[in-house]
Amino acid sequence: MLSGGPDERSFEHTVGEKCAQEWSPRSETANIYRFWQYPLQEVFQSFTIIGLYAYQHSAFMHICLLFLNLPAMLETMKIISIINGKGGVAKTTSAVNLAAIFGEKQKVLLVDADPQSSASWWTERGDVPFDVVHETNPTVLRKLRNVKSYDIVMIDTPPNLGTVLLDAVISVSDFVILPTQVAPMDMTMALKTAREIIAPRGVSYNVLLTRVDPRSMGEAIATQKALIGAGIPTFKTIVRAYKAHERTALTGMPITKYSGPYQSEAESDYRRIADEVIHG
Ligand SMILES: Nc1ncnc2c1ncn2[C@@H]1O[C@H](COP(=O)(O)OP(=O)(O)O)[C@@H](O)[C@H]1O
Ligand SMILES: [Mg+2]
Repeated sequence: MLSGGPDERSFEHTVGEKCAQEWSPRSETANIYRFWQYPLQEVFQSFTIIGLYAYQHSAFMHICLLFLNLPAMLETMKIISIINGKGGVAKTTSAVNLAAIFGEKQKVLLVDADPQSSASWWTERGDVPFDVVHETNPTVLRKLRNVKSYDIVMIDTPPNLGTVLLDAVISVSDFVILPTQVAPMDMTMALKTAREIIAPRGVSYNVLLTRVDPRSMGEAIATQKALIGAGIPTFKTIVRAYKAHERTALTGMPITKYSGPYQSEAESDYRRIADEVIHG
């Protein structure tokens, strides 16, 4: 039954033919073709399905994230504080001039948190494109986020901030500007403030080198490089010392509205800083 007879020959013949067909170069090519053809279709289909799935899911994820981030997205107001335990480092000068530059296009509130009211004294005699409020109460400062009608709030702080006021200002800030002069004593104080007070609270900050004699820019640039090398975030722009800055406070104007020697240089420093604050 298992050998001989026409059926067996026919079986062998069929198998032989099949083998010959399958292993002939033509059929091999055909197999290879099939091997690629079908999986390719399947792969294509799989990718289409995965693609649609991913698209639907990413769209879904985006909608979820949108809703999760909605409060943060709607919360566009930014609070920028200017802090340094030392006086005379251009905190008020920086606060007023940056508020004036931001105030050209956005709604800005300058909060004068210095009991000496320097920023209030400066601005109440001139014409400035922002609102000013004098507020030194830490409890009120902590609630600054509830102020909804401004794009930017700048906080000018006093030297020797008490811990309570410092905590209130930093806790409410999105970004801290730490102005300092380049002299070693000033730098030591600024770095201490950065390391011990600002950084541990997790708020972004940048050191700002101020009141630099334009004839000693080399020294300031070396200091700036050393700071950046040490991982201390530092503005690329250095504020040069010009008499124009001293005079603006007397006239009650920001540097943008002042006219006098070196006004454009003095103004351009603060414009570049404002640009760095916005664009990094
Ligand atoms: N870039 C500058 N060039 C020259 N004088 C400046 C500059 N920045 C600030 N000043 C002057 O330095 C003094 C201290 O500045 P101020 O902004 O009041 O410092 P702070 O608020 O840190 O005490 C002021 O007389 C001010 O006019
Ligand atoms: Mg001041």
